[in-house]
Amino acid sequence: MKIARAIAYTNIALVKYWGKRISEVANKGLNLPAVGSLSLTIDQLRTETLVRPASSKDTFVLNGQTITGPAFDKTFMHVERIWQRTGPTNPRPPCHVDSINHLPTAAGLASSASGFAALTLAAAAAFELHEDRQTLSSLARLGSGSAARSLWGGFVRLNRGEKSDGSDCIARPLESQTPSWDIRMLIVYTTQKAKSISSTAGMERSRLTSPYYSAWVETSTADLDAAERAINARDLAVLGEIMEHSCFKMHACMLASKPPLLYWNASTLLVLQELWQARHEGLLGFATIDAGPHVKILCATPMASELKSRIASIAGIQGVDIVAPGPDPQVEVME
Ligand code: PMV
Repeated sequence: MKIARAIAYTNIALVKYWGKRISEVANKGLNLPAVGSLSLTIDQLRTETLVRPASSKDTFVLNGQTITGPAFDKTFMHVERIWQRTGPTNPRPPCHVDSINHLPTAAGLASSASGFAALTLAAAAAFELHEDRQTLSSLARLGSGSAARSLWGGFVRLNRGEKSDGSDCIARPLESQTPSWDIRMLIVYTTQKAKSISSTAGMERSRLTSPYYSAWVETSTADLDAAERAINARDLAVLGEIMEHSCFKMHACMLASKPPLLYWNASTLLVLQELWQARHEGLLGFATIDAGPHVKILCATPMASELKSRIASIAGIQGVDIVAPGPDPQVEVME
C-alpha cells in the first residue's frame, strides 16, 4: 500500500437530509437516505487525513490524540470497506490513520461530512483503488450520509434513488467547483458542547415516532427541484425561502418525535429573530440549522460583515465565521 493524504471540505445542506430509507438493519449497512439533499461545500472548515501502513496494528490519531472505542471502530470499519472494494486476495495490512479537523469538533459542528470524505479518498488512494468520483461518493455515504456531498466543491445534489441496492443514490455537482456567485455563509457558533443525540439515532426516532415524518419525506423532492432551479437562476431570495422551509420542516419533524428532539438552545432562537429583523430592514440572510444549535446563514457577500456584527453581539454567541463556497477535495499520493 501507499501513503496518501486527502483534504475534504465540509458542506452545509440547504435542502436537508433527515431519515434513513428503511431501518438500518434492513438497509444492510447501505446507509440509504429517505430523502435527497442539496448542499454547499464551504472553504476553511475541512478535514485533512493521512493513511499509511502501520507497523503492527491499526491506529487512529485525531487532532493529535490517540482514539479508541466507537470512533476507532467506525473509522476502521470504513477503512475495511474501502479495502474490500479492491477485491483483495489478502487480508488488509494494518493502517495508521491520522486526521486533523480544521473545524471545531468539540463545539458540536458536524465533522462527519469532511471526515468520511477525506478518509474515503485517502484510504482509496493508499489502497490504489481507482474509482470515479461518484463511486467514491457512494462509498463515503456508507460512513456518513452527508459525506457523499463533500466529494465536490460548490453546490452538490445527492439524489435519494429508488433501487434497494442503492445504485441510483448518487451525488453530482450542480456546477464547476467555484460557483460564479458572490455568496457567503456565516457559521454562528452558539455553544462549545457536543450534541447530545447522534443524527443516526435522531433520524431513527423521527422515522419511528414522528407523525410529520411522512410529510417531510413526501415534500422533499419538490424542494430539491426548486432549489436547483433557484441556484441556476442565481436567485438568492428564492433559494433562501426554500432553504428555510426545508430546515424548519425538518426541525418540526424532529420536535414531533417521541420523546421530542430539540437541538436548539436559547441563542439559536435569538439569532433567528435578529436575522429576520435584519431581513425586514433589507439585509438579506437566510438560515439553516442541523442536528445541533449552531446557525448557518447564507447571504450575498456585501451583506456578510454587517450581518456578522449584528449577530456577534447576541447573548451566548461564541463566534461567527464568514466562509466562502469551498473547492473540490485534494488527494496526494506520497509513496
Ligand atoms: O450525515 P449525517 O449522518 O451526519 O447526517 C446529517 C444530517 C443533517 O446535518 C441534519 C442534515 C444534512 O443534510 O446534512
